[in-house]
Amino acid sequence: MDETTLANRAAWDRAYEGRQWADEQMRAEAATGSTLLPSERELLRDVLAGRPLVVHPQSGNGQDDIALVRAGAREVIGVDYSEIAVRDAQRRADALGAACRYVTGTVPGVPLPDGSADLVYTGKGALIWMPDIDAWAAEMARLARPGGHLFLHDGHPATDLWTWDLDEPRIRPDRSYFGRSFVCAEDSFPANGAVMWQWTLGRIVTAVVRAGLRIRCLEEYAEPFWRMDDIDAAAFRGRLPNAFALLAERPEG
Ligand SMILES: C[S@@+](CC[C@H](N)C(=O)[O-])C[C@H]1O[C@@H](n2cnc3c(N)ncnc32)[C@H](O)[C@@H]1O
Repeated sequence: MDETTLANRAAWDRAYEGRQWADEQMRAEAATGSTLLPSERELLRDVLAGRPLVVHPQSGNGQDDIALVRAGAREVIGVDYSEIAVRDAQRRADALGAACRYVTGTVPGVPLPDGSADLVYTGKGALIWMPDIDAWAAEMARLARPGGHLFLHDGHPATDLWTWDLDEPRIRPDRSYFGRSFVCAEDSFPANGAVMWQWTLGRIVTAVVRAGLRIRCLEEYAEPFWRMDDIDAAAFRGRLPNAFALLAERPEG
């Protein structure tokens, strides 16, 4: 693991340790299945109808895994490099009797065999931790079985450009759509000096195609994926892209 990834993992561990107080709240929220968005359910409708075995790289707190099981997945295997996230996600899933299993592992290099998944489900703050988008895409393609799918719902690459001004959306003077990386703000999660990477939509799509996957759909959304009860930024009121979803298939044979 390179130095930045090691430091980022330590930042996540510290952040998750500091979030223990939210355990009950997360469990209650997971029980409702509400974290799996209506747009995700719509795009995944036919895949979930086949009772897929799901692999979820960067599974974090695991709330989506419980929702995926409730929505039809046969089993979800969550993978995260934070042992604390893995331990807590397993405890929450067990408490709710959900068919979720967690393993500690780093992306790329997930400790699961090739073709393990009918559906590789990931996102919601996943790509910004990848210093090599091509290596990420190759790993997602490796994990999907032939005929299986990759589904990604993540922050739109443009979303980090917007200010959170209330009157008008503006472009932050310290950001560029074509920037390489930036340090996570200390008032956001996980803070602790973590370094985030930027990828344009073009680079993401090209990486997925080069990994041998066939894109079935690419959608852009005004609504950010994260909860924002306390943030009423003009940039989130429908005029600008803040999230995107991509569904791709690994061809048979
Ligand atoms: C923003 S969280 C999103 C988690 C999940 N999608 C969710 O909604 O709860 C990002 C997660 O990625 C994990 N992570 C970051 N880089 C990773 C890597 N290279 N390998 C494995 N996990 C990683 C972090 O530990 C964190 O749990």
